[in-house]
This record gives sequence, C-alpha cells and structure tokens, in this order.
Amino acid sequence: MYLTKEEEKALDGEHGEALSLAMRVLCSLGDFFEAERLIPIQSAHISGVSYKTGGEALLTTLKKFSSLGSRALVPATLNPGGVDLEMWREMGVEEKFFEKQKEIISLYTEMGILATCSCTPYEAGNIPARGTHVSFAESSAITFTNSYLNARTNRESGLSALASAITGKTPLYGLHLDENRFPTVKVRVTVALESSTHYGALGYLIGKSFSDAIPLIQSDQSLPLVEAKHLSSAAAASGAVALYYWGEKAEATKDLEKIEVDKREINQVFESFSLTREPGIVMLGCPHYSIYELKRVAEMVEGERLKIPLWVFTSRQVKCLGERLGFVQRIERAGGKVFCDTCPIVAPLKGFDSFLTDSAKAAHYAPSMNRMEAALQPTEKCVKVALGFKQ
Ligand code: F3S
Repeated sequence: MYLTKEEEKALDGEHGEALSLAMRVLCSLGDFFEAERLIPIQSAHISGVSYKTGGEALLTTLKKFSSLGSRALVPATLNPGGVDLEMWREMGVEEKFFEKQKEIISLYTEMGILATCSCTPYEAGNIPARGTHVSFAESSAITFTNSYLNARTNRESGLSALASAITGKTPLYGLHLDENRFPTVKVRVTVALESSTHYGALGYLIGKSFSDAIPLIQSDQSLPLVEAKHLSSAAAASGAVALYYWGEKAEATKDLEKIEVDKREINQVFESFSLTREPGIVMLGCPHYSIYELKRVAEMVEGERLKIPLWVFTSRQVKCLGERLGFVQRIERAGGKVFCDTCPIVAPLKGFDSFLTDSAKAAHYAPSMNRMEAALQPTEKCVKVALGFKQ
C-alpha cells in the first residue's frame, strides 16, 4: 500500500509509538486487501466493548493502546458494553464484571472516544453525511450507514475502527470504492411488510440466502428509519450484507439474478424461531430503540401490569429524553425496565432460558451468545405476551 511521507514517518514511530501501532494495524489490513492507499475518514464507531465478549484480551489490548498515549483524531463513538453502568445490579450482574466493564469504558474514554455505548451511533450525533468515508465496526450500524445514510464504510473490526479513530484514516478498498457498490442481486418483495419486525425478517432472509451480496430490494413500501434499522441488523446477522439498495437503481441491474419474496417466506422466518416453553422474559431494543419505539411501548403498557418481565434496551440519550417525556416512567410503572449502555446479546444475562423479541438479530444470536431460546414476533405481540395475553 502506498504511504505518503507523513504516513511513513508515523509508521516508523517519528510521531510516537501510539500512532505507529495504529498505523501498523491499518497497513496490515490494507496490504491484505491490496488497498491502494489510505484515505481520511470523518468519524469512527468502535465495537469490542463488552467484557463478556472481549474478556481479559480486550483489556490488555486497550491498556497497551492507552499506555502509549493513543488519542482519537476524529469523532469516535462506542458500541454497547456488557452492563447498564447505572442499573447493573438490576440486571443481576456481578460486581466483579461491572468493575471490569467500567475499566474498559474508562480506557476508551481516556483515548478521547465518546462512551455512547450504543449500536445506533447515528442517533447519538455520529451521523455520517452522504458520500463521506467512515470507519464503523458493529455490523448493524455498518449496513445502515452504507445503505440508508449513503456514507461509506467497510465491515471494520473493533481493532481496525480503533486504529482508524487514532490515525483518522482507513485503507481504500472494498465498499469505499464506487466499483464495489453495485447491486449484485434483485429482490422483489411481493408481501406487505406489516411491522418493523417484518422488515427484519426480510433482512434475515436476504442475509441467509445471499450472504455478502449487495441486494437491490424492490418493494412498493417505503423504508422508514426504524424499519431500516431492523432490515440492516438482520441482514448483517444472518449473512454479511453490508450494503443494500431500496427502490430502483437503474445502472447495471439488468442482468442480475432475481428472486421474489412472498408471504410464505416471511412467515417461515418467524416460524424458524420458536420456543419449547413459555418465554421467561420479553426483550426489545436490538438495535437500540429510538425514542419513537420507546414511546410506542410506553403507550402499550400505560396503566397495565406486566405478567412477564419486559426489558427494553436503548441508548443513554434516548433514555434521558424518554425520562423527560415520561415514557420510561410509564414502562417502569407497569413493571418493566429500560436499560442502556448494553444490549440483550452482549450482557451476561442470568436466570432466563427463553425470551421473546421483536428483533431478528437478537433471536439469531440468542442460542450461541446467551444459550437461550428465542422467538420472534412483532413488537405489539411481544408486549401483549408480556402483559399476559396468550401467544
Ligand atoms: Fe445492538 Fe446488541 Fe443488537 S449491539 S444490534 S442491540 S446485538
């Protein structure tokens, strides 16, 4: 990979060991993917935050970066960690785990990275503008950023996104290049997508069928933000879809393989997630809920009493706004909980072996990450089950 004189100096340690280490990470990545050069990025979003998934190895890596004096050169945000930093006891998490998680967040903070601890950075001020280059880890945010915001990022790891935050650069290859952003398959949707969960089911089906393809999804329906979050996260979970198009895209799409998605196939996605017992808990908020989703749940449980625990996951910013607007209080009065800084998958949940969710991504990862059975239903149905209505 070609480096400018300044970049060579940085790599050789003339600007300090911190920059040199980050440059080494990016040069290895760039050489592997035969990138032509490095390009500047506008911002970064870093995954690899939960002590549950990263363990001591993550702490050791972060200590190394931090001890060298690493600092983010561009705006950078963080993915969810393993606990709610304020309500960790209510999650049943042990103190030792909480202390480790706090240490991880402190190390990132010392490096100038904003501890937003959310997988929806675009709802927390890290909103890549159309056409700009960024370095995002967290698969759901990557797909959302490429597809819905029309900015450009590869599927970064936590380490490469951190190195990009420190250098302000990323190797030029993959989805940063025009020639790699053309659709590779057409998906005609002939079924009405009735809820955001149905959009997630569609994404799940596409990811499973085409892995890392770039689908051009044709539907008569619009794609609002919440629905795009569910579609993006599910397509990136069951496969490795990092970019899709919604609607018509004229160039180079004539000869593409074409498939149709009908009601039967969407129903099959829902049926593929099933429980052998009653759900022990209902968990919503994967990806993290927006204020609109929080409001909807608050309205559904208003004046009611939950029969099954209902946990809603969101970002700290959305929770603060939700408190100002009374949504959080309404959910809590019904017996539910609203957590932030963490998520249903990267938290070390104990005491439950089955759950119901409106998120195809959460249902997909539940068995491997949490050893839990999960069933998938639209939000309204999930809340009704939590209120004691039979499925
Ligand atoms: Fe976000 Fe966790 Fe789901 S990081 S997309 S809530 S698995």
